[in-house]
Amino acid sequence: MEVLHWMIKKVRQRIMDQQYSIGQTLAGRYEIEKVLQNGSYGIIYLCWDLDANQRCVVKQMRKSKRKENMENYKQETTILQMLDHAGIPKLIETFEYEDEQFFSMEFVEGKNVEDTLFDTKQKYSERECLEIVKKLTAIICYIHEKGVFHGDIRIPNVLLHNDELHLIDFGLAHNLHTDDKAKENGEQLARDDFFDIGDFLLFLLYSSYDGETKRNRPWTEELSLHPKTTQILKRLLQIEPPYHQCEAILTDIWEAISLLSASD
Ligand SMILES: Nc1ncnc2c1ncn2[C@@H]1O[C@H](COP(=O)(O)OP(=O)(O)OP(=O)(O)O)[C@@H](O)[C@H]1O
Ligand SMILES: [Mg+2]
Repeated sequence: MEVLHWMIKKVRQRIMDQQYSIGQTLAGRYEIEKVLQNGSYGIIYLCWDLDANQRCVVKQMRKSKRKENMENYKQETTILQMLDHAGIPKLIETFEYEDEQFFSMEFVEGKNVEDTLFDTKQKYSERECLEIVKKLTAIICYIHEKGVFHGDIRIPNVLLHNDELHLIDFGLAHNLHTDDKAKENGEQLARDDFFDIGDFLLFLLYSSYDGETKRNRPWTEELSLHPKTTQILKRLLQIEPPYHQCEAILTDIWEAISLLSASD
């Protein structure tokens, strides 16, 4: 039954979702260079912006999921438009083409952390992990200050390039200004983002773990970390009293980095 359901879904997607190919131009402006991702929410193209003469990324919403995804599309575009931070791609425009819904945004150089960890098998030291998470946390502090909660901080949604870090994918974000859920649950939504920062940090730290990962062994036993890093993680993951302020996380990360540097 489940297989049948899956097949119907795929056929429906194939009939309804128009996918464009390399070389085609969307809305007379965006020439497709590559399909970056054929995701569940939408199709993501790397394009050449003929007007601005620069590379950009275009996200197309799946028509087969228009009902469920219209909210995410609106949320993501509204939020990208209101944010202005070097670590977040800027919205170029929203547009419709051949009855399909799109938006274009700044292209960000780099690989997402999921590909970096699993394909490139990049290993990070504890200090490097903290340096990366410090940049991510600074972006989170900025968006929280603007009343935005990301809601989906995960390794595929963070792009790294040399020293630069970008946070993408605001499809599941909450906006305090427009969203009732955010108004009522601001504190919880902030804590959820903090928890995800903790989870993200663990992923990075495990990159240089070469022991065997045993099922029921907690990270506290598998990773040998500086006590300050362990404390930060425990607070982020709400094992110890959680953080209430984003800035407090940043301060603790600074401290952990300097303690690690001193013990080098
Ligand atoms: N502005 C950008 N610059 C460069 N690459 C990008 C940009 N936006 C997205 N990408 C690439 O496309 C991938 C998917 O983007 P994004 O996370 O926004 O889509 P998604 O909504 O998660 O899709 P899905 O439906 O699979 O969940 C990213 O991991 C990244 O590799
Ligand atoms: Mg994503």
